[in-house]
Amino acid sequence: MSRPAGDPISELIKGSGIGIDIADAALADSVQQGIGRVERLLHDSVQSDFDFATRTSLHLVDAGGKRFRPLFTLLAAQFGNPQADEVITSAAVVEMIHLATLYHDDVMDEATMRRGATSANARWDNSIAILTGDFLFAQASALIADLGAEAVREMARTFELLVTGQMRETVGVGPDEDAVEFYLQVIFEKTGSLIATAGRFGAWFSGADEATVESLERIGRLIGIGFQISDDIIDIASPPEESGKTPGTDLREGVRTLPMLYALADPDTDPRLRDLLSRALTEDAEVHEALDLLRASNGLERTRATLDEYANDARKELASLPDTPAREALSVLVDYVVARTR
Ligand code: IPE
Ligand code: IPE
Ligand code: MG
Ligand code: MG
Repeated sequence: MSRPAGDPISELIKGSGIGIDIADAALADSVQQGIGRVERLLHDSVQSDFDFATRTSLHLVDAGGKRFRPLFTLLAAQFGNPQADEVITSAAVVEMIHLATLYHDDVMDEATMRRGATSANARWDNSIAILTGDFLFAQASALIADLGAEAVREMARTFELLVTGQMRETVGVGPDEDAVEFYLQVIFEKTGSLIATAGRFGAWFSGADEATVESLERIGRLIGIGFQISDDIIDIASPPEESGKTPGTDLREGVRTLPMLYALADPDTDPRLRDLLSRALTEDAEVHEALDLLRASNGLERTRATLDEYANDARKELASLPDTPAREALSVLVDYVVARTR
């Protein structure tokens, strides 16, 4: 299984692509067991009579990825019974929905690399990538049916947000809208909503009380927005060996992310960067030039400060949970979202 460098597998949590250390041995063991069960369910769920569909699905399942969302579900489930079957099912569901969106996202973004591997649209074609995303969505839906009508409704609502976030991003900000507010709305919808549901599902299906469920959903929302802000920093600042993706994809797609918006808002920004940010870039040389200028701009530092604010809000929300090893591990997860951009 190949994983992008810079995302070491933890000695303690093998199978989650994130090198977070969980100090408490019993907790590490519980999460480890959970991750193992989620992996088995993921593999079982993509089996089809039509081998080709299994093969195209396993392409990204086996390419690795951080398994950030199921890990968060499993940590959120530590406030009740973390080994409940529904916890494991919901963690697998969240990863499968995420995977479906990755297949579709790479078509929309014309990306050629994902999880350190050739993206499905590049390896096969757009149709196969779209259909594989749909196949994963179908298999995830079958699993959600076992979780009951309320879970189906919750995931339908989340999926709607994933779609409207992507649509909003595609259509772009209107002339009378605030670009930063618009960006934050988009990233809540396209990324934060699913991570919020990952937290809600983990706590809910573990049998935790309603206040805890709500709190983990709010933490997920804050971590999720932060996670996308860090992804947008990574698109500018990290080499492909670390991210497993091609830098500058947002520039090529003409998607204005927070570092670009902040650079544009700075009166001292180089006019050449303003020119490059005014259109989708098609030439490699222009993308590299824009990346260099963005790295030197104060947009990146200001974006890191905004990321810190979301992380701090998540930490404040965490403080309302009981002081347990799981809370400590969740705070390490918040630190990870910030630290992964450094
Ligand atoms: C990528 O998500 C898409 C975003 C929402 C930023 P991840 O960074 O979690 O991707 P994988 O699962 O590790 O490949
Ligand atoms: C992430 O969008 C949101 C998804 C639902 C995939 P991006 O286009 O920013 O994600 P990456 O950087 O390709 O993973
Ligand atoms: Mg993309
Ligand atoms: Mg995209």
